[in-house]
Order: sequence, then C-alpha cells, then structure tokens
Amino acid sequence: MKKKLILGVVSAIILCTVAVLVVINSKTEASDVKDRTTVFNIGAKNREKYVTGEDKDSVVEKTAKKVDTDPSSITVLVNKEYKVPKDYKPDDLVEPNIEFSFNYKDEKRMLRKEAAKYLEALFQGAKKAGYDLLGVSAYRSYERQKMIYEYNLMEYGYDYTQEYSAMPGTSEHQTGLAIDISCKRMSGLLKSSFGETAEGKWVQANAYRYGYIVRYSKNKTNITGYGYEPWHIRYVGEDLAKLLHDNNMTLDEYYEYILNSDLIDREQYAYYDALLTRKDEGKEDYSQAILDDLLSDTDVQDSELEEDDDFITPDPGDVMDGLEDVPEPPIGFEEEDMPPIEDIETTEEPTPTEAPTVKPTAEPEKPTQNPPSPKPDEGQDGNVEDNEDQE
Ligand code: DAL
Ligand code: ZN
Repeated sequence: MKKKLILGVVSAIILCTVAVLVVINSKTEASDVKDRTTVFNIGAKNREKYVTGEDKDSVVEKTAKKVDTDPSSITVLVNKEYKVPKDYKPDDLVEPNIEFSFNYKDEKRMLRKEAAKYLEALFQGAKKAGYDLLGVSAYRSYERQKMIYEYNLMEYGYDYTQEYSAMPGTSEHQTGLAIDISCKRMSGLLKSSFGETAEGKWVQANAYRYGYIVRYSKNKTNITGYGYEPWHIRYVGEDLAKLLHDNNMTLDEYYEYILNSDLIDREQYAYYDALLTRKDEGKEDYSQAILDDLLSDTDVQDSELEEDDDFITPDPGDVMDGLEDVPEPPIGFEEEDMPPIEDIETTEEPTPTEAPTVKPTAEPEKPTQNPPSPKPDEGQDGNVEDNEDQE
C-alpha cells in the first residue's frame, strides 16, 4: 500500500514535470515565430498585423476586420459610402515642395504634413528616374468639392460625373491625403492615358515605396465604384501601401468593403434630381454661379499675393483647368490640345540609383520595366468604353 502511494506520487511528479516542459517549449516556439516576423503596425490606432518579412505569401492576415473611419487617421477609408464629416478639415496642412501644373497660390496645393513629406520624396524618386511629375490638385474643402461635383453634373451629366467625381463629403481630397498628379509631357492634364506613359507606369510601380497607392485602378472599377484614375494617388503610410501593393488590393478590399450600388445610386440620383429641380425653377444658373464662386475665390487669394512675383494672376482658363477630376470630355465635347499617346515618347525606366530622402521601410524595388498588361475593364455598368481614351 505504501509502495503504491510512493509510485503514485512519483508518477504525478513526472507528469507535472512533462506538462511544465511542454508549456515552456510551446512558449519558446511562439516567441520564435514572433521573432522571425516583422511587425507591421497597420491601421494605426487599433490594429497590429504580423507579416513575415521574407515572404509576402506568408501574410498572416491581409485584411482589417474593422473599418477605419477616423478622418484624421492616415489609413481612413473614404469612398462613396464612408464619408468625411462636412466640417472636417485637417489641422496640419502644408504645401509640399513640388512643382504644380499652375502657378498661383491655392488651397489645392496643400496636403497633410506627413503626406507632403512623402510626396516630395516620391517626386524626387521620379526625377532621379528621369521623370518630371506635376501636382495638379491636392486638398479640397467640402465646399470646393461641392462646387466641382455640381459643376460636373451640370456640364457633363449624371453617369460621367458619378464615374469620376465624388459627391461632397465622399472625396479623399477632403482628408488632405490625396493628390491628383500628372506630368510635364502631358502638360499637367488629367487623362487616363497618363497611365500608359512612362511617368504613369513609374508611379504605378513605385508609389507604394513612398506610402502612396494609386487609388482607382483600371481593373478594380467594380470594387471602388470609380473609373480608372491613374492620376489620383492617396497616402496611406508605407506599411499599408506595401501590403496593398504586394497583394494587389484596393483600400476597399483591405477593409472588406462591398460596394452597395443600389444605395449609392439612390443617394447620388436624389442629389442630381434636387439640383435639376432647383435649376428648372430658375433660381440659379448653376454653372455660372459655380464659376463665379471659383473666380472670386481666386481673386481673394490674388490679393494676398500682391507682393509675390512668383505667382501670376490666373485667368479664367486656369480656373477651368482647376476643375479637377474631369479627366477628359465625354464624346461630343471638344478635345483638349493633347498629342495622341503614341506620339509621346516613352523612355526606358532607369533603376533608381539613390534611395529617396524619406527612406521607405520596404526594400527599394527595381521599377517594373514593362508592367503586366492591365486586364480588361470590369465596369459596373458595362459601359466603360464610353470613358476610355478617345485618342
Ligand atoms: N475623383 C475622385 C473620386 C474625387 O473626386 O475625389
Ligand atoms: Zn483625385
């Protein structure tokens, strides 16, 4: 009996020792795994994701479970459904030191501080690769977006506007994290053919290294709800930009967002209808009122510039050019003075020789010499051809 008791105690001690060893061992394995990974702090405020540094296929988690709706967060989702509050204005807007397509002072030169710093690095990286990019339009207030959107509705109609222009409160430009860019060889125009130029291809292949994404991709129009906009880039920070680039994901996909077309159509159409009704009632000539507003806006800014010889007074033509995000007139409208794309010489893209001033966390990648041919458009309504290049 005594022997049995001793045997029992000894067995219990052995079992406990084995259990403790198993726990210690598993803890070591877990911390080993963590040691082998690079920690990406994505989604800033409330998420941490663990992605192995060596192999993009071993991304543990590719999507966020919770949508970032904080307009002041660099990873905020803004789309046709997720809106920015009307009165939101970033409190750290600065003017990036880059060349713009216009030479007067305007709020549309501004970006949030961090986005501006990384944009300067992006422009320098492009310059080193032999490309001259131009800024066209960055920050826009809710009111300015409203003017642009209503102008587009009245001038270009419903379908075209919904494809290229955001309703006030739904534009990333209001966050101060997005900018439309073009290049010198395209005279600063916003046209989808920018995506076929060497400059546009460089941006597509390299923007992520500077924390930017091309937000409205050619083969994702059914996900973003917008047409192809190779000129619209959005700052999301280096980690998220790399994750999206490596996994060919849009910001909407990252947040597992599914476009709610019915709801959006109803809302957009109600806006259009109300605008038409007000116009029919003869209360205002909307197009003229909007232009007058834009012109008087510029006049105010000119007076601030009296002493500054670097800036010239914009003429109404400049202001018209400033009606951003109307990439090219729909069929039937006068073509802009733009050489056909085949006349634009596309140069070989040299490998960047120097690291950008803002050093991306991602290892510099050799720019894609010949990016894979884009897949055919997958437009929502199957009428994408209507908005394709007309050259
Ligand atoms: N063109 C984009 C969608 C905007 O208006 O913000
Ligand atoms: Zn834009």
